[in-house]
Amino acid sequence: MPDPVTQPNTQADIKPNFDRFRLETTADGSQTFYSNEFNQLFHSHFGAHQEAEAKFVQVTRLAERAAERSHLTLIDVCYGLGYNTATALTTIWQANPQCRVHWYGLEADRDVPRAAIAANLLQPWPTAVRHLLTELADAETLDRDTLQAHLLIGDARQTITQILATNPQADAIFLDPFAPPDCPQLWSVEFLGNVARCLAPDGYLATYSCAAAVRSALIAAGLHIGSTPPVGRNTHGTAARWIAEDLTPLDRRAHEHLYTRAAIPYRDPSGTDSAETLHARRSEEQLRSSLEATTRWKKRWQQPLEGQITPL
Ligand SMILES: C[S@@+](CC[C@H](N)C(=O)[O-])C[C@H]1O[C@@H](n2cnc3c(N)ncnc32)[C@H](O)[C@@H]1O
Repeated sequence: MPDPVTQPNTQADIKPNFDRFRLETTADGSQTFYSNEFNQLFHSHFGAHQEAEAKFVQVTRLAERAAERSHLTLIDVCYGLGYNTATALTTIWQANPQCRVHWYGLEADRDVPRAAIAANLLQPWPTAVRHLLTELADAETLDRDTLQAHLLIGDARQTITQILATNPQADAIFLDPFAPPDCPQLWSVEFLGNVARCLAPDGYLATYSCAAAVRSALIAAGLHIGSTPPVGRNTHGTAARWIAEDLTPLDRRAHEHLYTRAAIPYRDPSGTDSAETLHARRSEEQLRSSLEATTRWKKRWQQPLEGQITPL
C-alpha cells in the first residue's frame, strides 16, 4: 500500500527532474541535451539547429508545400526538445501565414519538452511559435485556427496506433529517434511499417539515418528511398516516399550496402520487445544469412575503383 504522504498518486504530482538533462553546445552554436539513458546527444554535435533545418524541414519541402496548400499534416516521431517542429512551423507560416497545420508528436518522456522550455531553448524561434510550443508542452493538446496539435506521450510503438486510427495522410513525417544501435525498437520493420501507413500518397518522410538496416526497413514498408545531403557531417540522411519522384537515388556504394548483412533490419513482431531482444534476433538472422559480409563491402569500397587514379 503506498504511503499517501510520500507516494505520488497522479502524474501531476510527480515533480520533473530537469537535472537529468545536461546542456551541451553543438558546432553551430545551438544547444541540446545529453541523454544519460541513451548515452548520446539529442541532436547531431555538428549542429542541432542545422540538423532540424537541413535534415528534416528542407527534405520534406515544407516551404514549397505550404505556399501552395491551405492545410498540412505533420507527424514528429520523437518530438524531444521540439526543434524539428519549431523549425517546421516557422517555415510553414513564413511561406503561408494562413496555412492550417494538423500536427501529431510522439514522445516517451514529457519532461524533455518541458525541460527545453524551462532552459529557454526555444528562444531562437519566433515568439508566436515559442508560445504555442510552451503551451503544448504543458497541455499536450492545442486547438487553434492555424494549429491543431496532439502530443502523445508514451512508447511510440503504441501511440502510433492512435494516429493510424485517424487515417492521418501526413504530408511530412520526421523520424528522429536515438540512433539504431541504441534504440532499435523505433527502427524495426514493424514500427516503420506503421509510420509509413501514416504517410500521404505524395508525402515525404525524412530521417537523419543512412543505416542500411533502416533503409531496408523503409523499403520493406513499400516506400521508395533516396539520399539526402550530408549536413556538417560526412553521412547522408534518408528521404522516403510512396512515389520515387523528387528522391535523389543512392550512389553505388550505398546501393550495394543494401545487399550486405548490415541491411538485415530489426524485427519486433509484438511491438513490445527490448533493445537487447531486437539485437539478439538480428544477430541470429545475420549469422544465418547468405548476404555479403559487410566487412567485405567496406574493404571493396576502400579500394580505388577501376579507372580511378590512385593518389600517390
Ligand atoms: C534524438 S531525440 C529527438 C530530438 C527531437 N526530434 C528534437 O528536435 O528536439 C529522441 C527522442 O526520442 C524519445 N524516445 C526514446 N524512446 C522513445 C520511445 N520508445 N517512444 C517515443 N519516444 C522515445 C526520447 O525521449 C528523445 O526525446
